[in-house]
Amino acid sequence: MDMLVVGSGFFGLTIAERAADAGRKVTVIDRRHHIGGNAYSENEPTTGIEVHRYGAHLFHTSNPTVWEYVNRFTTFTNYVHRVYSTHNGQVFALPVNLHTINQFFDSAYTPDEARALIREQAGEFDAKTAANFVEKGIALVGRPLFEAFFAHYTAKQWQTEPEKLSGDIISRLPVRYNYDNRYFNDTWEGLPTDGYTAWIERMADHPNIEVKLNVDFFDESQPLNKKALVGQLPIVYTGPVDRYFDYAEGELSWRTLDFEEEVLEVGDFQGTSVMNYPDADVPYTRIHEFKHFHPERKDVYPTDKTVIMREFSRFATRDDEPYYPVNSTDDRSGLLAYRELQKGESDVHFGGRLGTYQYLDMHMAIGSALSMWNNQLNV
Ligand code: FDA
Repeated sequence: MDMLVVGSGFFGLTIAERAADAGRKVTVIDRRHHIGGNAYSENEPTTGIEVHRYGAHLFHTSNPTVWEYVNRFTTFTNYVHRVYSTHNGQVFALPVNLHTINQFFDSAYTPDEARALIREQAGEFDAKTAANFVEKGIALVGRPLFEAFFAHYTAKQWQTEPEKLSGDIISRLPVRYNYDNRYFNDTWEGLPTDGYTAWIERMADHPNIEVKLNVDFFDESQPLNKKALVGQLPIVYTGPVDRYFDYAEGELSWRTLDFEEEVLEVGDFQGTSVMNYPDADVPYTRIHEFKHFHPERKDVYPTDKTVIMREFSRFATRDDEPYYPVNSTDDRSGLLAYRELQKGESDVHFGGRLGTYQYLDMHMAIGSALSMWNNQLNV
C-alpha cells in the first residue's frame, strides 16, 4: 500500500482514482457498509425506484475540468432541476421569479414594475443595519415574499424562531425578474444515467485500488487505524476534522436531516421531484419524489407506485450524520485551531466537506480533490 484514503465519498474516490492511475497502490477505507459517501443511492426494493439515501443529489457544474473528469465514469441525463413551493394551499415556482411574484400579488407586473415593487417593500429595513434574520430578509426581498417563502422555511431548517436567528446566515435571497425557474445556473447539469452507485463503483474499479468497508479509522482493534498508520505513508483523511483530533478544540456544530421514506400506491404523488413546504404549520421542509428525477425510466418504473421522502431538519449530535456546517463564531475559531493542529500531522491531508468543515457540492468536492492531487500529492 502506497497511500491510505479515509472515506469513500467523491473527495476520497477522486484522490484514489488519480493515484491509482499514476501507478500507486491505494487502500480506501470507509466506516459505512457502502462506498460513495453521501452521494450513495440504491433502488428501493419493492419498486426499483432509485433513492438517494442521504438526500436528493443533483449534479451541476460550470467547471470544464470537472465535467470532463466525471464524464470518464458516467454519462448524464438531460434532467433539469426545478423546485416548487406549497404556501397557504397554493403552488408557486422557485426560485422566486416573475411568475411567483405575479401569482403571489395577483398581478401582471413587468420586470421593472416588479423590481420597483420589491424595492419599495424592502425599504422597511436596511440590510446593513438589520438586527436579525427577519430584518435582513425583509431588507432583501420585502416582508410579503420573505414571510411566505423564507422566514419559516429557514426557521424549520434551524429549529429556531426566525427572530432569534442571526442576519449573518443570509447575504442574499434569490429573486429573478424574469420567468426563468431553472434551479441551477450552471453550464452542465444532469443525473448519472445508470445511477450514482454505478458511477461511484466505476471510479473505484481499478486494480490498484482496494476498498475496505465497515472500517473505522479510529478503531484500534483493526489494522488500518490512525495510531498504527500516521507517519508511515501519505494519508488523505475525509472524515470530520474535530473527530481526528479527538475534539481537543471542541466540537464543530452541524445540522443534520431526518428522512421519512414511504412507498405509496399511486402512480404520481406530486407531479415533480421536489416540493418545498415553507409554512410554519407543516413540520417538514420538503418532499422528494424520486421517480421524477428519471422521466426517461418511465418504462422501467412502476406506473402504480411511487417513493416519497419527507425531509426534517435539526441540529446534529455526535452520533448523527453531519450534513450542513452551522459555522457559528465558535465554530470558526475552533476550525482555525484545528488547522493549526493539522500542521503537526506528518503527511496527513485533510479534504472533503467533513475534513475541511465546509459545505461542498459534488463538483466542488471533486474539483478540490483534483487540485489536491495535482498540487500536493502528485509531486
Ligand atoms: P462524504 O461525506 O460524501 O464522504 C465522507 C466519507 O468518509 C463518508 O462515506 C464517511 O462514512 C467516511 N468517514 C468519515 N469518518 C470516517 C472514519 N472515521 N473512518 C472511515 N470512514 C470515515 N451536492 C451536489 O452537488 N448536489 C446536490 O444536490 C447535493 N445535495 C446534497 C444534499 C444533502 C442533504 C447533503 C448533506 C449534501 C448534498 N450535496 C449535494 C453535497 C455532496 O453530498 C457532497 O459534495 C459530497 O458528499 C462530498 O463528498 P466528500 O467525499 O467530501 O464527503
